[in-house]
Amino acid sequence: MLRYGPGGYNCLHQDVYGELTFPLQFLVMLSRPDEDFTGGESVFVEQRPRQQSRPIVLRPRQGEAVVFPVHHRPKRGSRGFHRVQMRHGVSAVHSGSRHVLGIIFHNAR
Ligand SMILES: [Fe+2]
Repeated sequence: MLRYGPGGYNCLHQDVYGELTFPLQFLVMLSRPDEDFTGGESVFVEQRPRQQSRPIVLRPRQGEAVVFPVHHRPKRGSRGFHRVQMRHGVSAVHSGSRHVLGIIFHNAR
């Protein structure tokens, strides 16, 4: 369970640790955007080789889940698939409190 209050945010990062990393993780939004909190968007950034990074901003509603890559994902390019690094974070919460269930499947102690 992750809770962010006013001013709370999470820098772009990758949840990579432990002996074995499962490539996908997910979150479930437990609070109601615009009612329980404002701000606090879920931010994902694709770091593309030899290009500028591409941001993706999601505002899942209460009860919605987002499945996303832990550290990279395949992307189709002009010469087939290549690996794109992914980071994720949370933009600053302006008001209220934002609760999220975050689940990873790593084999970590
Ligand atoms: Fe994370």
